[in-house]
Order: sequence, then structure tokens, then C-alpha cells
Amino acid sequence: MTDPLAQWYETHGRHELPWRETRDRWAVLVSEVMLQQTQVARVQAVWPEFIDRFPEPKVMADAGVGAVIGAWGRLGYPRRARRLWESSAVIADAGWPEVLTELPGVGRYTAAAIRAQADDEDVPAIEVNIRRVVQRVDGRLLSERAAELASVRLGRGLRGRDRLLALMDLGATVCTPRAPACPVCPVRRRCATRGPLPNEVTARQPAFEGSFRQRRGLVMARLRAESKVPIAELDAEALAALVADGLATVNDTDAQLP
Ligand code: ADE
Repeated sequence: MTDPLAQWYETHGRHELPWRETRDRWAVLVSEVMLQQTQVARVQAVWPEFIDRFPEPKVMADAGVGAVIGAWGRLGYPRRARRLWESSAVIADAGWPEVLTELPGVGRYTAAAIRAQADDEDVPAIEVNIRRVVQRVDGRLLSERAAELASVRLGRGLRGRDRLLALMDLGATVCTPRAPACPVCPVRRRCATRGPLPNEVTARQPAFEGSFRQRRGLVMARLRAESKVPIAELDAEALAALVADGLATVNDTDAQLP
């Protein structure tokens, strides 16, 4: 094997991540939904137990949406838990759809990431790390489609699953947002930029401290900890938003998980 990226991936790829051991579609879907908005370290701490508890779609579908929202714990953005449960119900009932983006919460990236990782289909998929890598190599911002093509070009020594994970790991550990380690980068000779692009957008999550998301999170934490909580003790606006999103239910006096 002489391809520098392939060689780099073999030695330095994050092969130890727990969801990398499986080729099961469901287990991969769960990991990708968690990783959409939560850091790898936090997902690593939660995914193994979560997938033990809900090892297949039917188990999750039967457990009910409240159990899934409860088990989601402190991963944040709990609407993902609800959509994951909805997906589990679809799959348990009708099987996997031909087009994976028909599943709630599954977009173009997640659909392709499942096909590449679980089925080892030779499809490109663009998430933030891969986008950063291919844009820097090309020296310009790219559309989704152009980034997909660029990732296939850059990862020509690899295919499917390995190409996806090699480029992702390169972005996460070498071609990082602020201080890329260009001297050790396996694709530096092909790279137009060798550093951040001047107009690169680094999407950061909005501040949690003092946010409405934090207020929702405090209510969610109470609902997960206690089977019923008097409405009078909860932040009314945050609770109303959670009810609207299908993440909580209320009667005259109490709130609980759905
Ligand atoms: N492995 C597979 N998909 C991943 C992701 N989205 N983030 C980090 N590691 C992954």
C-alpha cells in the first residue's frame, strides 16, 4: 500500500471508536445521529450502553418514545431522540426504506454514511471534517456535490467506508479548524491552502450558558429523573416548547416524558 492517505489512516485512524466495530445498520444509524451534534468523547461515553439497551429497531419501537428520550440522557438536542424513535418504528414496521433519507432525522450525509459504513457501498459523504479537508486541498469553498466529488478524488486510494473514515479522521485530528498540523499531513503535497482558508466558515454551536436550550435542558433533566413533576415547579416557557416538540406531556397538574 503506497497511497499516503491510506497509509496514514491505517496507522493513525481512530479505529478504537466503539461504533467502528460494527457493520450493523441500526447501530451505525444510532451513532451517526448522536454524532450529528455531540462531540465524539461524549458519544463514546453513552453509545455502548444505549445500543445494548436498544440493540435493534423493534426493541426501541416497543420501548416507547419516553424511554428513548430518558435514555438519551445529557447528550443534548433531544429532538434527535424523538426522531430516532420514529425511525425505529418505521423500520420495525416496514423494514429499511430503499431511500434512507425517508427516515426522520436522516439527511443526505447520514444516509450516505450508513451506506458507506454498514454496507461498504462506495458512496461519498460530507460532514464538517471532510468538508474542511477537501476545501483546503482545493483552495476554495465547495458545494455539497462538489465536495463529494473532491472527496472521491482526494481519497482515490480508498473506497467506501475507509475513504469516509480516513478523511473524517484526518479532519478531526490533523486538518483541524484552527491549528492544522500540516507538516505531518499525508495530503500536504496536494494541498492548495496548507492552513485555514481565509473565508472558511467554522460552525460553532451557540453558547449554552444562559440560552433557552439550557432552560429546556433543566426541565428535561427533571423529567428524566422523576416520573412526574408538578408543572408549578417547572419553567413554563421551556416546558411549553418541549410539549410542542413532543418531548414532554402535561395534564392539569403534572408534566412527564411522553
Ligand atoms: N465515525 C463514524 N462516523 C463518525 C462521526 N460522524 N464522527 C466521528 N466518528 C465517526
